[in-house]
Amino acid sequence: MRRRICAGNWKMFKTAAEGVEYVERFLEYAVSVPENVEMILCPPFTALEAVGVALRQSQGDDRRVKLGAQNMHWETSGAYTGEVSAPMLLDLGVQYVILGHSERRRYFNETDEAVRLKTQAALNAGITPIVAVGESLELREDGKTQTHVVAQVLAALGDLDTEQLQRVIVAYEPVWAIGTGKNCDPKEANAVMRAIRGCMPGLQDVPILYGGSVKPENMAQYVSQPDIDGGLVGGASLSPDGFATLAKEAA
Ligand code: PGA
Repeated sequence: MRRRICAGNWKMFKTAAEGVEYVERFLEYAVSVPENVEMILCPPFTALEAVGVALRQSQGDDRRVKLGAQNMHWETSGAYTGEVSAPMLLDLGVQYVILGHSERRRYFNETDEAVRLKTQAALNAGITPIVAVGESLELREDGKTQTHVVAQVLAALGDLDTEQLQRVIVAYEPVWAIGTGKNCDPKEANAVMRAIRGCMPGLQDVPILYGGSVKPENMAQYVSQPDIDGGLVGGASLSPDGFATLAKEAA
């Protein structure tokens, strides 16, 4: 069975206490998720420590539910007010980090160059980057989806060697599908994934997740496509039973 990945991006939702409560409930449901599905929870920075402790305490050594962050800086330390570095995340047990999410590109002016630096920094620290790419509605309507997405992938990953690429996860998230309820047609999403896999050597076996209005009702349609390995999930990851149901569908 192919390895599947479901990552829950909580965005700017949930306090530390709410995060711990979530973990307690989620782990009860998550025991029935098939073994081939890896689950990752990405709380806001302020809840990472509490969620990480709750996951470790309840799961012991064989931890199926992993901890991820939603962003980080590329430097390991320095005068960068308000920022958080890879060693700081590692210190809290973080194993994954979402980089280049369209909300960061759009509201915080995150550039392709910043995403490249962050990806390199995450890999250097031993954190798995989940590199997010995707086109706006305007680009899609202009027929520029694949050109744009491939350019974003090459900008972020073009410098990496084969060994580093094996430690990367890519998330294809059409911007117009995020939080809108208008999910991308699974076949169309698969065609973009195919273009991503083909754009440079070493990406053939990289896990690629679909993101954008993923729900328990549509998850299975995505993973039934040959190039889609799972989901990066926003809204539908906020409810513990809903996200566990979605993870089951990903199997
Ligand atoms: P959504 O968000 O599932 O709420 O559309 C996905 C994301 O932003 O990663």
